[in-house]
Amino acid sequence: LRVAVFVSGRGSNLKAILTHTDLANLIKVIAVFSDKSDCAAFEIAKSFGMETKVIGKGENKIDTADLLSVLKSYNLDLIVLAGYLKLIPLEVVKHFENRIINIHPALLPSFGGKGMYGMNVHNAVFNSSAKVSGATVHFVDAEYDRGKIIAQRCVDVSDVNSPEEIAERVLKIEHQLLPEVIKAFAQNKIEIEGNRVVIKS
Ligand code: GRF
Repeated sequence: LRVAVFVSGRGSNLKAILTHTDLANLIKVIAVFSDKSDCAAFEIAKSFGMETKVIGKGENKIDTADLLSVLKSYNLDLIVLAGYLKLIPLEVVKHFENRIINIHPALLPSFGGKGMYGMNVHNAVFNSSAKVSGATVHFVDAEYDRGKIIAQRCVDVSDVNSPEEIAERVLKIEHQLLPEVIKAFAQNKIEIEGNRVVIKS
């Protein structure tokens, strides 16, 4: 499976993908894309010998028109958004329908949408006094955090004292859930039936 990973920041999910033993024989990460040239995730990518590319306008960057042709030229089977904060251009979403997945650090459809990223999500969960949070992996469509849900996992947050504690618990599950979904995708175990997505055992 030929995979591209999109990142914006820390890159811990990227690292979880690159170090997951089950994935080593199933996928090949071809390139890592970011909207920021100086993100920590790029350092991780480079330390694994991955090609890195900056998206956006300006010098040394790829703009939207070129992005699609670059992605096409890689013959990708899957695009993984692992902490990527920008909206994916509609042409790209259409071309790679049901082949772009995103990880979100809460239980969608709650606590998602524009502006709901990073600590904003965990602060909102904390302030809501919700007793569970979790991670969601979903297909990407034209709107933030609204595509079909592939998999979710919960964490108990009933005893936390801060949003940071929620973040820590959720991140641990993200690092399990995202590689698991990629594995299922690589093994052709993800079935889409209308708006429902089922992972076959
Ligand atoms: C994760 O919490 C992910 O769910 C969210 O952004 C964060 C990225 O973390 N979309 P990292 O860059 O993978 O460490």
